[in-house]
Amino acid sequence: MTSIERQRHLVVGAAGAQGGAVARRLLARGHHVRGLIRSAEGRDRLPEGAEPFVADLGDPEQAKAAFAGTTHASVLLPMIYEPERVASYVRNVADAALAAGLRRLVFNTGNRLPEAVTGVAAFETRRAAATALLGSGVPTVVLRPPIYLDNLCAPWVAGPLVHDGVLRYPLPARSPVAWLSHDDLAAATVAALTRDGLAGTVLDIGGPDEVTGPELAAAFTAELGHRVGYAAQDPAEFEAGLAHAFGGPVAAGVASTYRWVADVAEPLYGVDRRAVEETLGIRLTPLRAWIAARPWRLLAGTARTGPHAAAGGTARGAVAGSVHAAGGTARGAVAGSVHRTGAGGSPEAADRAADRAACRAEIVRLHEVLERWLSGRAPRTDEEFAAFARAHLPGFTLSGPDGSSLTRDQVLAWVEAAHGRTPGIGIRIREVELVAADGPLLMAAYQEWQRGTGADRNRRATAVFLRDPAAPHGLRWRHLHETWMPETPTG
Ligand SMILES: NC(=O)c1ccc[n+]([C@@H]2O[C@H](COP(=O)([O-])OP(=O)(O)OC[C@H]3O[C@@H](n4cnc5c(N)ncnc54)[C@H](OP(=O)(O)O)[C@@H]3O)[C@@H](O)[C@H]2O)c1
Repeated sequence: MTSIERQRHLVVGAAGAQGGAVARRLLARGHHVRGLIRSAEGRDRLPEGAEPFVADLGDPEQAKAAFAGTTHASVLLPMIYEPERVASYVRNVADAALAAGLRRLVFNTGNRLPEAVTGVAAFETRRAAATALLGSGVPTVVLRPPIYLDNLCAPWVAGPLVHDGVLRYPLPARSPVAWLSHDDLAAATVAALTRDGLAGTVLDIGGPDEVTGPELAAAFTAELGHRVGYAAQDPAEFEAGLAHAFGGPVAAGVASTYRWVADVAEPLYGVDRRAVEETLGIRLTPLRAWIAARPWRLLAGTARTGPHAAAGGTARGAVAGSVHAAGGTARGAVAGSVHRTGAGGSPEAADRAADRAACRAEIVRLHEVLERWLSGRAPRTDEEFAAFARAHLPGFTLSGPDGSSLTRDQVLAWVEAAHGRTPGIGIRIREVELVAADGPLLMAAYQEWQRGTGADRNRRATAVFLRDPAAPHGLRWRHLHETWMPETPTG
């Protein structure tokens, strides 16, 4: 076996939930870990001790630079399912790995692959990627995980599970699944990276317990001490909810795999436990032990479901303290409909007050950051700018007051370039109202009054937030719509 001293591991997605777990385990074993991030702002999300390396897999030269000097790599593909784009990422990875003389590459397909070819891009792009990497000349191991247990930690799954005794997931009740934890994925990946004689292996990995929906719910019943039932969510409803958070193409790609499982009776998510443990020399974590070790009340937060939730599958999410729930893989069932909030002295009213306070605090905080940046009081450094950039989700969009429509990249580029251009600017936020809150989504309206800009720049705004326990005030910005408000400030 290669000595630890000479191993230098590149981890793709090290700032995300799956790659993060792999990177942490490699670091704990004393390996050098280079964490691939797409921009400097990803630095804060890397596990401590990982070397940040900014590169995009879509750029062949950047990919080569990222792999240069590494000996091993853990690779997964982001939630992108366009065949040509995925194929170009894979080509860049293979070329870069060959150029670096990589000794071992472990490719995590992110999902199981049905035996026969399907018309589902989310499966077929990964099948093609695995074939290309195995045939590339790079010593490759392919790991094919089932569904991740960590998906259940998302507040919109954990909330109804804890408060209503309903485990909602877009898988048919009858489907047996060897749910896998990120920790076990990481153990499997590290073994696949470092064990001798595995190059060329393709392995279906999974947790040790293969359970149907009701059996999974029964395991929760036993651990939580109250009855939990299983409810199969309609993949169409799941997709509609996911689209709010990640946009249509990603939602369609993810939901297509759940739809395939719902439509086709072929069991996809089982596991040969002995084959996994013997091939990789690891011990998998029993399902009940994994459930018992999680803080379910904390993950569920103050989430409560009303009658609409039982009917329509909406579940109030909560600001929970879980990195997993915040991470890239907790893509559970997001509510498809938004309900207006009302008044009252109920626990729901307390939730609304807390949500309003969080929205207000985040809106004020971000505008303070913006004011410091535009005025030039903040230095023009990556770190300062990251405080603004990080607040915006990858799919963030802005409808500007002049009718413009901007992507996150366009907004960030504009703001970055505007550093120090308005020295006298002062921004005040007024009349923040919570318009709606449902599941992981919140919508707030507010007024933004600007002075010192030499023009009437006041506006009414409506912002859509996604809950993220790791973000300031538990919120990240998904969309912002602004309208000019020409009135003169009164105070
Ligand atoms: N089986 C399951 O239960 C399950 C659950 C969730 C996901 N998945 C699958 O797992 C895979 C990853 O999902 P995810 O949710 O972790 O995806 P993701 O959030 O889209 O991306 C994962 C990581 O890849 C990085 N990345 C994205 N585009 C990149 C690029 N062009 N170059 C370099 N790095 C890039 C991201 O970096 P940044 O940090 O810079 O954004 C992020 O850290 C997908 O195939 C998905 O379908 C499976």
